[in-house]
Order: sequence, then structure tokens, then C-alpha cells
Amino acid sequence: MTEIIINGTGDLPRAARAFLDHLGDHTIVAFHGQMGAGKTTFITAVCKALGVQDVVNSPTFTLVNEYRNGAGKPVYHFDFYRIGHLSEALDIGVFEYFDSGALCLIEWPELIEEILPEETLNVQILVEDADTRTLLF
Ligand SMILES: Nc1ncnc2c1ncn2[C@@H]1O[C@H](COP(=O)(O)OP(=O)(O)OP(=O)(O)O)[C@@H](O)[C@H]1O
Ligand SMILES: [Mg+2]
Repeated sequence: MTEIIINGTGDLPRAARAFLDHLGDHTIVAFHGQMGAGKTTFITAVCKALGVQDVVNSPTFTLVNEYRNGAGKPVYHFDFYRIGHLSEALDIGVFEYFDSGALCLIEWPELIEEILPEETLNVQILVEDADTRTLLF
């Protein structure tokens, strides 16, 4: 188990770099955490650390947003919070994204648990207090 403690939003750039240093060969990352835990916030910090210049917001209507990292490679940001049925994930071609080799960062992975690939890196975001989060993976 790896633990990264985030001491407030000012600590996010360091925490994102530390997380990326631990990623190894993983390209599919599932962020578990209660509503408001900081999933979008941390994914935004990870994208910034990767050189993404686009605005990083949770996909609201599409389930997935595509960004480009500093090297022009795609980064996919999923949010399954509003998914009604698993077929919606299949309809957007979720396996093509997962198999693409590009980094896939997922909010509310619990809602597509049945189809999450085995090699997914599962990350827990725990709320310690107003300013502190712990990442466990
Ligand atoms: N590391 C942190 N330190 C302090 N505050 C944080 C941290 N991460 C997130 N927050 C704050 O928590 C709030 C919610 O964060 P965020 O939207 O990222 O949560 P979320 O897990 O994506 O929620 P949802 O389940 O609704 O998608 C924001 O106001 C954000 O500023
Ligand atoms: Mg979110």
C-alpha cells in the first residue's frame, strides 16, 4: 500500500507528481471517494503535472473528456456518476479507451465495476479534515 497525504490544495502539485512517480505501468486509474472527496480536484492536478493545458472539468454529458498532455498524447477523464445503465459505457466504446494505452482517470468507478479491467489501479481518497486528504493505493 502506498499512502500520499495531501495537505491542502497548495500541496496538490507535489502530491500529483508523487502519484505519477508511483504509477508504474498502470494506465487505468479508478478514484474511489465520497462525494466531494476531491476526485476531480486531484485528477486536475495530475493533468496539470502531465502538461495538460485544456480546462479540466468533469465530463457532464458525455461520460468522458479527452485532453492532451504536454507531449500531445491523449488523457481520458471519465465520470460515471450520471450513468444510467452499463450499456452507456459500452456505447461510448469504453474498452477502446481502456485498451488505448493512454492514461484513463476515472471518477465513480463503482458504477462500472463489472467491466473495470483487472489491471485497474484502485485509489482511495479519504477525507481527513477540511484541508487534508489521504490517497491510498
Ligand atoms: N486536497 C484537498 N485539500 C483541500 N480541499 C480539497 C482538496 N481536494 C478537494 N478539495 C475541495 O473539496 C471540494 C470538492 O472537490 P471535488 O469536486 O474535487 O470532489 P469530487 O470527489 O470530484 O466530488 P464528486 O463526487 O461530486 O465528483 C472542492 O471545493 C475542493 O476545493
Ligand atoms: Mg468530481
